Amino acid sequence: MPSQSSVRTLKKPRLDDEVRFLRSWIEKPLHVGAVMPSGRPLARTMAQYVDRNSNGPVIELGPGTGAITSALIDHGIDPRRLVLVEYNPGFCALLRDRYPQAKVVQGDAYRLRDTLWNVLSQPATAIVSSLPLVTKPMLTRLRLIRDAFTALAPGAPFVQYTYSVVPPIPKSLPGVSTEASERIWMNLPPARVWVYRKR
Ligand SMILES: C[S@@+](CC[C@H](N)C(=O)[O-])C[C@H]1O[C@@H](n2cnc3c(N)ncnc32)[C@H](O)[C@@H]1O
Repeated sequence: MPSQSSVRTLKKPRLDDEVRFLRSWIEKPLHVGAVMPSGRPLARTMAQYVDRNSNGPVIELGPGTGAITSALIDHGIDPRRLVLVEYNPGFCALLRDRYPQAKVVQGDAYRLRDTLWNVLSQPATAIVSSLPLVTKPMLTRLRLIRDAFTALAPGAPFVQYTYSVVPPIPKSLPGVSTEASERIWMNLPPARVWVYRKR
């Protein structure tokens, strides 16, 4: 069940977050990768790929102002299971304030092994990523998913959305099964969720 504070967060007007986002995007467009936070249909779709009945940590990469974090809590994930890896110190301060039970790690998600080395005590149930992957070279994306699979329990999902029409990570990697959501037209811009699991 979501806590009272998370319910309050979900109902909070989004204008502040949109302003924060736009400001960060103006400062670092390639880092932020979007001009506004994800909409609820996209956030809910991301969250539904996470098994709420398992008990390992759920890692979120690039939580920003918490649009997907709130959807994960609403989906039934205990906030104490959340590990939020965010680069932007301003967003980290906001996340600590909004989700005091979650572990907020200020660090570089593309250096996932270094960033998480002393954080996880058991394999993760899911990694949910909003990183703007398409701004990075393919080798960086492949290293990210390699390191993600090291942190994940066998068969656990790496969940990533993209605005692009092509998958952000190739869909035919050896030993990896891939699935995709329908295109989510209710998001601006429309997005698709890709899910990768090591077989
Ligand atoms: C497209 S925004 C998504 C924010 C939020 N999850 C949402 O969907 O509204 C990408 C987020 O990734 C963060 N980010 C970018 N590069 C990062 C990195 N190397 N490590 C951690 N976070 C990063 C940005 O600061 C930003 O918060």
